Amino acid sequence: MKTQTKQCLDAISHLSEGACPDREMLRCILQGRNTETAAFAAELAAQTRDRVYGRRIFVRGLIEFTNFCRNDCLYCGLRRSNKNASRYRLTEEEILSCCELGHRIGFRTFVLQGGEDAYFTDKRLCALVRAIKAKCPDCAVTLSVGERSAESYAALRAAGADRYLLRHETADASHYALLHPAEMSLSHRMDCLRELKRLGFQTGAGMMVGSPGQTEESLLDDLEFLLELRPEMVGIGPFLPHHDTPFRDKPAGSVELTLYLLSIVRLMLPEVLLPATTALGTASAGGRTAGVLAGANVVMPNLSPPGVREKYLLYDNKACTGLEAAEHLSELRAEMKKIGFAVSMDRGDHACCGK
Ligand code: 5AD
Repeated sequence: MKTQTKQCLDAISHLSEGACPDREMLRCILQGRNTETAAFAAELAAQTRDRVYGRRIFVRGLIEFTNFCRNDCLYCGLRRSNKNASRYRLTEEEILSCCELGHRIGFRTFVLQGGEDAYFTDKRLCALVRAIKAKCPDCAVTLSVGERSAESYAALRAAGADRYLLRHETADASHYALLHPAEMSLSHRMDCLRELKRLGFQTGAGMMVGSPGQTEESLLDDLEFLLELRPEMVGIGPFLPHHDTPFRDKPAGSVELTLYLLSIVRLMLPEVLLPATTALGTASAGGRTAGVLAGANVVMPNLSPPGVREKYLLYDNKACTGLEAAEHLSELRAEMKKIGFAVSMDRGDHACCGK
């Protein structure tokens, strides 16, 4: 066996035994990736997930409630410079009926995701959170609405929001600058994440894999940042090009590397809630299943009104039907059953929540 493979297998074993990895150990793991080490990482990650959460997959009803965005991220189809995007914003009534429908289907977590849309002031967003909580008191509300002030996050938390997703996208400041307009910064992003944690949100960070300019050092920065922040959730998906962005001709990120990173993150943060993302499911036909086999334990079916789903186009061909659609939960159940998992309709809080 090649020394590199052997060292990588040893490092993966140590990680699964709870060793806190330093950068060299993480580098050894990244550099040693091959089919053998990836299978080993996936097996240990799956064992870890099973030990913490059992063979259960949590589902979240994803409501993409506005695609207006003040930001101009170079990778994203919702960027403000994309004049071809057909913009929409759901009304409070529409959002509430998505939740009602989702609740009837059995969802107990709603993820409200949107661009950074100035229409959704703290007053409006807090009222929305309160209305959802009043209608569905047994549900968790997750927000994914980007960077806001500390006061705004505090108000949303006080209104009853339980969780917040804000991917850091890349923890390498120079890479961050390649992906984002000058007015955005990694340090502000990180401040937001730390504030969310401080306020008691179950907080989600995460990165795209294979976004233009990403290097091995960027991924090491990502892994070190995740170790330091210890987010309750980590969203990892491959970069996929969108035809109306400056990155239209850039190659998509690797599915295999994404799966490997899911396994590594599961081993680094055993209790993490780890979604098999829509981007992973879009990039490869069996992507979501492969994600679960690599250590993921969450899927987020689309609960947005069918008429707007194709307008929330972060990247080309974004999946929103079949296994991705909330109304097809039985297909998802069957798919998960095939690989030995049960879809759980519990709120699916982080294992350390309340402890
Ligand atoms: N490819 C993959 N993921 C993307 N996102 C945005 N644009 C793309 C893209 N082109 C991801 C970002 C964002 C999340 C909502 O979607 O990571 O945080």
